[in-house]
This record gives sequence, C-alpha cells and structure tokens, in this order.
Amino acid sequence: VNHLLGIKYLNTSDINLIFETADQFKEVINRPIKKVPSLRDITIANLFFENSTRTKLSFELAEKRLSADVINFSASQSSVKKGETLIDTVNNILSMKVDMVVMRHPKPGAGVFLSKHINASIINAGDGAHEHPTQALLDCYSIKEHLGSIKGKKVVIVGDILHSRVALSNIYALKLLGAEVMVCGPQTLLPKYIGKLGVIVETSLIKALQWCDVANMLRVQNERMEISYFPSTREYAQQYGVTKQLLDSLDKKITIMHPGPINRGVEITSEVADSDQAIILDQVENGVAVRMAVIYLLASKIKPN
Ligand code: CP
Repeated sequence: VNHLLGIKYLNTSDINLIFETADQFKEVINRPIKKVPSLRDITIANLFFENSTRTKLSFELAEKRLSADVINFSASQSSVKKGETLIDTVNNILSMKVDMVVMRHPKPGAGVFLSKHINASIINAGDGAHEHPTQALLDCYSIKEHLGSIKGKKVVIVGDILHSRVALSNIYALKLLGAEVMVCGPQTLLPKYIGKLGVIVETSLIKALQWCDVANMLRVQNERMEISYFPSTREYAQQYGVTKQLLDSLDKKITIMHPGPINRGVEITSEVADSDQAIILDQVENGVAVRMAVIYLLASKIKPN
C-alpha cells in the first residue's frame, strides 16, 4: 500500500512528478467546469483529530474535483470521545469500503503507526510537530510558480521551528529541490537537532531577511507548549515580527509566505500580509491542485487496471 506519510520518504523525482501533475490539475480547476471524472470509483475518508481550516477544506475540494466519494470525520463529534481507539475507529470506517484515508492528528508519528495496522493508503495532513507534507509541497510549488525555480534560491523559515511540522517538511522538500535553507528564530524555539538538518541557523531577523529571497513566516504554536517559552508574544512581535518598515529597509524585494493561520500583528503585520510581496492566498489556491495531484497519484496505484 502506498502512503504519503512525510517528505522524508520522497525523492526529488517524486516531488517533480507531483508538481507536473499539479500543473495539469491547476489548469483543470481554472476551467468553468472544475471537475474531472478520474476517481469516480474511489472513496476517501478525511479524519481530523485536530482542528483545521485550510487543509481540511482543501483536501475535500481536491477529492470532489477528482469525483471521489468523500466522507468527513471530526474527532470532537465522534465516538473517540467515548474512548474508541485510533485503530478501531479507522478500521470501522474502512469496513464501509473506504480506499484512502487523509488524517490530521496531534501526535507525531500517528500516520506511520496507523500505516502498520490498516489496509488503505494514508495521506498525512499534519501529525503533531512532526510533518505536514502537503503543506511543504504546496509551499515549494508556490515558490517555483512565483520565482520560476527553486534550485539555488535562499529560503528562510522564521519563527517557532521547535513546534512546527511545516518547518520540518519544508526543510526536507526545499533541500531535495536544491534551495539554500535558513531557519531564524529565538534560541528557545529552535530544536536541539536543527544542526543535523543541514540548514543555516540565524537568530537575527534583519540578517535573515537581508540574506533571503523568500521568507516563510510561522505562527508561534502556543497550543503545543507545555510551558510558556521566552519570549512573550509582545517581545516576539518586536524581535521577530516582519513589518513594512523592515521590508522597505532591504535592498531587494523578497517574497513573503505564511502557511496560515496568521496571527496578524505578531509574526507579520496586516500591511505585510496583505501586500503584493505576500503570496499567502496563492499558496492556499495551489494547495487544491497539489492535493489533487497527490491523491490522484496514490489512487492510481490502488485502482484496478
Ligand atoms: N496551513 C494549515 O495547515 O492550516 P490549517 O491548520 O487551517 O489546516
């Protein structure tokens, strides 16, 4: 059975194939009739054990535009609340003749664990602070679309790297595609293993912005912190918040990205988020085509010939 559990399990050719397939689907979803009949015989369950706006709706739309049958499961309204286990929950759903599972879960490694216990393809839609592979794919696709290529581009990921699945998946994907990668944030929000990932580490935001072509701004994930990390939100905004004044002080026009949700006034000001330097809504738009490509390529391996 084929899965997308993390970028860690992909190679450069896999990503290029996803991008080429996404190019075709992007063309499809810009037509008046945005659907293709490709997956009429496939049923997909979207299992969300953690909140989501973009990823959940983007997957559902991608599945519907491929003509798959779709069922949606939200843990907070389910029998998980009565103590049912993850494996029991998923196996019960699969017994209704479901072919593929898209799962978001708060625990790192939940997708890998589930893949050892079920007989269906799994797409990881975010597992705790571990990986968010489709976010990294749509981020890299958006950089390529905006700048023409990724190889040799300087990309800084700014913020709470310690708690971010977006950071880890982006680091893996960007390095596979030949970008130079920097992480920037307060020392307290950088993981101890960061030096082993082959990225440049910088604690000064202005130095990071002067270096980069693209800055991917992350939210501080207070919900994943057992203790309150230094700095406070106000201190964070002062030291790591990107403002128009900071961008205007650079001698070049860099591209601003954000996976969402944005905390306006903390990691970026509204003026920056809504400026023509930001490609944040382009990222969201591309997410549908990229997820169509991932689902289509995995489904082609489970469909009978
Ligand atoms: N980027 C992202 O994963 O957003 P959601 O949490 O809203 O899905």
